[in-house]
This record gives sequence, C-alpha cells and structure tokens, in this order.
Amino acid sequence: MSVASLGYIRISSQDIDAWRSFGSEILGLMVNESASDAKRVVFRMDQHPARLIVEAAEQDKLAAAGWEYADKAAFDAGVAQLKAAGANVEMGAADVAAQLFVTELASAEDPAGNPIELYYGRTDLSNDFESPLGIAEFVTGDMGMGHLVVPAPNIDETHEFYKSALGFGDSDNLTLPAPAEGAPPMNIRFMHAANPRHHSLALFNYPNPVGIVHLILEVPSIDEVGACLDRVNRAGFPLMSTLGRHCNDNMLSFYVFGPGGIAVEYGCEGQQFDWQNFTPTESTVGDFWGHEYVIPES
Ligand SMILES: [Fe+2]
Repeated sequence: MSVASLGYIRISSQDIDAWRSFGSEILGLMVNESASDAKRVVFRMDQHPARLIVEAAEQDKLAAAGWEYADKAAFDAGVAQLKAAGANVEMGAADVAAQLFVTELASAEDPAGNPIELYYGRTDLSNDFESPLGIAEFVTGDMGMGHLVVPAPNIDETHEFYKSALGFGDSDNLTLPAPAEGAPPMNIRFMHAANPRHHSLALFNYPNPVGIVHLILEVPSIDEVGACLDRVNRAGFPLMSTLGRHCNDNMLSFYVFGPGGIAVEYGCEGQQFDWQNFTPTESTVGDFWGHEYVIPES
C-alpha cells in the first residue's frame, strides 16, 4: 500500500514570529489562527487545516514529513509494511493526532534519520481558504501540499526503504557533477506517491544542517511566481537559486532561504504524470535554463 501524498510538513524553528510573517506576507499562506498559539504557527494553503506547521524549538530543522494514506486500511497496511522493513514505529497519541487534525498517526525515522509521520483522515476541513496576498489557490488537492527533498547520505538504503516500506515509485534519478574535487557526484532520487505530481519526495546524497534540502509550494501561474520573487527581493530574503525551469518535472521556480535557513522552492507549471504509462528516467542535466545557485554573502 502506498502513500497518497505529502499531507503536511512540521518544522522546528527558533523564530516562529519570523515564520509567521514570512509564511503569510511573502509566501501568501493563510495563518490558521485558531490552531496557532505562542508555540506554533499553523499555515493553510487549501481546505486542509494544517499544511505547514512551524513549532517553537531550540533548533531550526525538519520535525516531520507527514505522509497521508487514503484510508484506515491503507494506513494500517502502511504501518505493517514499515514495521516489516525494520523501522521503529511509534503509534501517535490521540491528543497529538488531534493537534495535527488527523484521525490516526504513527511516527518513525527513515534510514537516514529523517523523521516521518504516517496518517490518514483529516478533520476540520473547511472551504474558506483565503490567501492574505490574494493568491487564488495553491496547486494541491489529491497531489498533496507539494514535495519535500531530504538529505540521505546513505541514499541507496534510504531509497529502497521508501520504495519497499512506503510504496513510492521512481520518477527520475539525477546525477550531477561533484561539487568539489574528491567529493562524490551529487545524486537526487525523485519519487512519486499515488498521485500525478512528478515527485512528492526526493533524496539528496549529501547531509544538510536543517534536514530539509527544500520544500516546494506550487502556484497556478508564472505571475504568482514573479510576484513572490518581487516580495522576496523587496524584503531582502536571500535566494538559494535564481529563476529557472527543471527538466524532469518542467517546474518553473526559484528558491528562497526562509527563516532558519529553510529553503523554499516557489514554482508553477509542474508536469503531471500517468504512472501506468511511465518509465522512470535517468538524467544528468537538472535544468533547461536558470536555477543558478546563489552563494550567500558572508
Ligand atoms: Fe523541488
């Protein structure tokens, strides 16, 4: 049984106030005020009550990727597969599930140590999503909130885990030149869940201090990408990458470092796929154009 989509991302942050303004005033997410308090900011991007959850902590890092299952049967099968793969699975307490607006959840770690949560059932869905910046909608629905790229220096083992324990399928295997002499080539494994998004998850074979290589928010038009880039530049947030278009999912996007150095990709026009008629690709070029990495000023 496979994961349906990326349902939510939880981030630990040293500065949730900075995230509150970055999320709402730069990214255009809606703060779920009734779910937020002094210790966490909960953002909506559609009818789901909690898509991005930023929790006050001592460190900036990934707290958990929330993988959604279609129903209880799929969730139970997913938990069983996870246990069979040797993962140490902890069933979530009812109050934790309630805080995340899910019916039932379980938590574990992947073989690279990235925290994951499986769940099914969203409570408190409502149709009153309104972006504070007037963004008509984010590209979500059955495709989930977007995609997440996590570090996995033990990439082969971690890749196998996501396929066998969580049911992900391969989309693309991208190899890029080593970033420095003597270092291994960079490798990114793009994987899809049971939805048409090119990848809900990707693994990168280098460590990352915050446990998130990047996450993406997808909007319906290039104008929304450009408008966000203007807001980013005006507010002085550092870019991780300039505007560009990826080859494997055709996404037109740029990358910004948000508070705590969490990288957010903001893009549009991501291609959707019918996995029945798809052969996984291997590639050595990441972009048609652009996506120049920006070295932050020291
Ligand atoms: Fe991406």
